[in-house]
Amino acid sequence: MPLEFPPQLIEILRSAKSIAILTGAGISAESGVPTFREAQTGLWAQYDPTELATPEAFRRNPKLVWEWYEWRRALVAKASPNPGHVALANLESQLTARGSRFTLITQNVDGLHQRAGSQNIVELHGNVWRTKCFDEDVVVDSWPDTNEAPPHCPHCNGLLRPDVVWFGEPLPRPALDAAVDAAQSCDAFFSIGASSLVHPAASLPYLAIERGALTVEINPDETPLTRAMTHSLRGKAGEILPALLKALSL
Ligand code: OAD
Repeated sequence: MPLEFPPQLIEILRSAKSIAILTGAGISAESGVPTFREAQTGLWAQYDPTELATPEAFRRNPKLVWEWYEWRRALVAKASPNPGHVALANLESQLTARGSRFTLITQNVDGLHQRAGSQNIVELHGNVWRTKCFDEDVVVDSWPDTNEAPPHCPHCNGLLRPDVVWFGEPLPRPALDAAVDAAQSCDAFFSIGASSLVHPAASLPYLAIERGALTVEINPDETPLTRAMTHSLRGKAGEILPALLKALSL
């Protein structure tokens, strides 16, 4: 049975000049990427992710943290973008073709939005496929393959680490500024697959609400955000987003 959408939602999306989308781990769930807290299986089941994804954990045991991220990269490498990722990439190309602004803000570090073809992506928590120097805090694209874990920075010989935000670390300022700007200037804001528990990302939808934008949540479960949103579509992103794109038939 085709999904029905509120007519107001379709109308506003058809005429929106600027759309901002926030995605969380839920949009990658249908790609088989376990959400941040589900990921701990096998060897890693004995570890709490919040005790691995911190600068202190890296200083204490850089080899363990580096190998955990190697394991997570291998998990993600086996995953593919799902219909939810693809629908967002198609929505962006159709809306930007007609001159609308489209910003995809993601808390995910798996790079699946890029692989689905999305263009204007703001990575709030970094990207597990990028590596940076722990000491210099600059991205490093290549380094001698010495089989060391972690490898050493070719510039300063410091240790290399994943370019992701760890607990206790600030979000990258340029990404946060771009996300706030998009939320404060959009006609429509979507929160998709986010538990809305982790700030500052969870505060972005409220900036859109203050602006009077139409706000939509897509999630199988209720979240702390649900009551504040114009519409809360209860279901999976991989099912709702393709149906929404079809209903818009831009
Ligand atoms: P969570 O794992 O906290 O929440 C995932 C959300 O996705 C939940 O609300 C689920 O109900 C929902 N969900 C599950 N399957 C879905 C589906 N098929 N379609 C749509 N939604 C679905 O993930 P995040 O909210 O992204 O931070 O967590 C935010 C941050 O917490 C992560 O980025 C990470 C973690 O600490 C850092 O790594 C810094």
